[in-house]
Amino acid sequence: MEIPKKRKSLESQEITVINEVAKLLSKEPSFEKATEDILKILYSFWNVDLSFIALYNSDRKVVRIVKAFGFTKEEINRGIFRKGEGITGKVFKRGVPVVLTDLKTNPALLNRTQVRKRLKGNEVFIAVPIKVGGDIVGVLAVFKEFSSKDSVERGIEILMILGTLIGMFYRLSERIERERLEWEEERRLLREELKKTYNIHGIVGNSEAILNLIELIKKIAVTDSTVLITGESGTGKSLIARAIHFLSPRKEGPFITINCTAIPETLLEAELFGYEKGAFTGAYTSRRGKFEMANKGTIFLDEIGDMPLSLQGKILRVLQDKEIEPLGSEKVVKVDVRIIAATHRDLHALVKQGRFREDLYYRLNVVPIHIPPLRERKEDIPLLIEHFLKIYNSKYNKKVKLSPDVIDPLITYDWPGNIRELENTIERLVVMHDGVIRTTDLPPHILAFKQKQQQEGNCKLPLELQNTEREKIIEALERTGYVKSRAAKLLGYTFRQLDYRIRKYHIEIKKF
Ligand SMILES: Nc1ncnc2c1ncn2[C@@H]1O[C@H](COP(=O)(O)OP(=O)(O)OP(=O)(O)O)[C@@H](O)[C@H]1O
Ligand SMILES: [Mg+2]
Repeated sequence: MEIPKKRKSLESQEITVINEVAKLLSKEPSFEKATEDILKILYSFWNVDLSFIALYNSDRKVVRIVKAFGFTKEEINRGIFRKGEGITGKVFKRGVPVVLTDLKTNPALLNRTQVRKRLKGNEVFIAVPIKVGGDIVGVLAVFKEFSSKDSVERGIEILMILGTLIGMFYRLSERIERERLEWEEERRLLREELKKTYNIHGIVGNSEAILNLIELIKKIAVTDSTVLITGESGTGKSLIARAIHFLSPRKEGPFITINCTAIPETLLEAELFGYEKGAFTGAYTSRRGKFEMANKGTIFLDEIGDMPLSLQGKILRVLQDKEIEPLGSEKVVKVDVRIIAATHRDLHALVKQGRFREDLYYRLNVVPIHIPPLRERKEDIPLLIEHFLKIYNSKYNKKVKLSPDVIDPLITYDWPGNIRELENTIERLVVMHDGVIRTTDLPPHILAFKQKQQQEGNCKLPLELQNTEREKIIEALERTGYVKSRAAKLLGYTFRQLDYRIRKYHIEIKKF
């Protein structure tokens, strides 16, 4: 059917359709939903019982129905056309609208969807291209009954407008989708990167020990239970305590630290529980204690192992009854605090020595967290070095780098001061040097450690061998009743050789 040159102005019904579609597109962000609703609008405002939108799939090189109104699922699934195939394929290929009538008999209707049998016969099939700029991205098609030839012309016009609107929206959603995918990918990579290195609240490390620790603190943070953190000096006890607080529901509340070593015994009680005016000489005003200040938050009792026995009972009372009694006061104050304690000491041993209350120990040790020393998780060293380099480079506005051979002695060193020592070492290196740091720039004790290890490694038996040798000697000593000369004979050693090994392996000589 030919498209007449002369065009009539659009009637109000058709303007309503365009208006509704424009309104829809301005508020619906999803292309999927928008196309579905456009076809519904055609049905509601323009009596289009059957319609579809087909889009080009560049992977499979076909035009495929992606949304339809009035079609069954099977009919939609059959709606796949190659370029130039059927009316849909032709409209897509040429980019011009096509109109078909006499649909019951017209051979031009490919009837791929097999919808023909459901048609009344007087419908007109109009298919228009969905265009964006010069590109054709798909086809919009309707089966509609028209009352006169004029309205068919207007129909084409209205569908062409909709085709353009859909095309614009398609391009826009395509771009948004692409940006969303890129953004998600970026976020995923970033998250992965974060997981690898900087974990929650500045806890760096990817050793099994640190990952388990992080899992554990995430779990216990949400509970209100008392936590006891143990670990050598500088292993990160304070850091972990802080992380627990900030991962807990109390994170909006205060986090109050009290270092039980740093405060003289006489002042500690006042610090912790507060005092009333006149409670002691010099108490001119009353003062709230740290427990009260920590209300609704967390109190961190650092170095609890150094807490004087006299105060341990009072701490126990807070733990049990959640109440405190300020010095020189008659009243008790209810407090809602979570207690986290830490120590580098062996509290259990202190209990045995009678220097720490056993009942308090058990009250504190509800959730024990042990942070292993750095020498037991050397995998974390490179990450920590990188972490501290970043921090101190930015603090001192420098761009100091480590040459790769510097890492090895830093990993070999046994870090008795743990992460704090590593952090101080890196800070010092950044302050003292510019550019690339070489092995010779390392502190002498770290270099000496490496050299000593190498020397020992050269003349040392492997540990397993040492153990079997030690065991053999003990066995011989047992059999000979700890008479060294006889044991030496049994082992084929001279007396001096045996004596040397007994000392080397720290073997205890039992006296009978
Ligand atoms: N896993 C870690 N990742 C990053 N930084 C860490 C880590 N562990 C500790 N640190 C840093 O090392 C330093 C020492 O940590 P922290 O003060 O928490 O140790 P500590 O066990 O409380 O030491 P002390 O027993 O002397 O009180 C801090 O600057 C801390 O931020
Ligand atoms: Mg600390």
